[in-house]
Amino acid sequence: MQELSNAILRDGIGLGTDVVKVDSFLNHRIDTGLLTRMGEAVREAFADEQVDCVLTVEASGIALALTTAQAFGNVPVIFAKKSGHINVGSDVYSARVYSFTHQRENLITVSRRHLQKGMRVLIVDDFLANGEAMRGLTDILRQAECVTVGAAVAIEKGFQPGGQKLREEGLKVVALATVDAIRDGQIILREA
Ligand code: G4P
Repeated sequence: MQELSNAILRDGIGLGTDVVKVDSFLNHRIDTGLLTRMGEAVREAFADEQVDCVLTVEASGIALALTTAQAFGNVPVIFAKKSGHINVGSDVYSARVYSFTHQRENLITVSRRHLQKGMRVLIVDDFLANGEAMRGLTDILRQAECVTVGAAVAIEKGFQPGGQKLREEGLKVVALATVDAIRDGQIILREA
């Protein structure tokens, strides 16, 4: 999506060789107009699909999940909650998610009340890196016997393996922008 690519190149900051800082428009300060148009772009990418609900994980995925859900005609958003507790009640679906970025494991949970068997769910997140969060969310949808329509992310880090692995497994993954590398602080985007 050209407008997102422009924002990344203009306002994004490359840290080291693998971190993209986009907190001036995506995950700290939010450019609401841009996020609205990103939601519409996700809707276009999944235009042929029926989507009953959008699933993300707190916190930074929620903004794009919301605008995507609005673009699909105001379907609900469910966000998985992160919990440090290993013991969770039987009223939730849960999955363990290891974050390489933060080097810690989170348990993510979704109340069983919110996911019904057969529901068609689109997963949305801000970043796709190693794909651990996506894997946890698809695992929860499998437990709930929902249909995973696909996954959409704002930014895929193409130099990390998550997106490729998920696509090889047959999941439709759409990235609105893909970062191929960070060199000397410069963010290098893949051509659309
Ligand atoms: P993975 O889920 O694809 O395996 O990614 P990883 O564990 O590496 O990422 C964990 C967290 O770090 C996620 O946020 C993800 O959005 C974020 N992240 C990954 N790479 C980058 C990056 O280059 N820049 C920024 N800004 N964030 C990145 P989280 O821990 O779930 O935190 P939050 O959603 O509460 O902010």
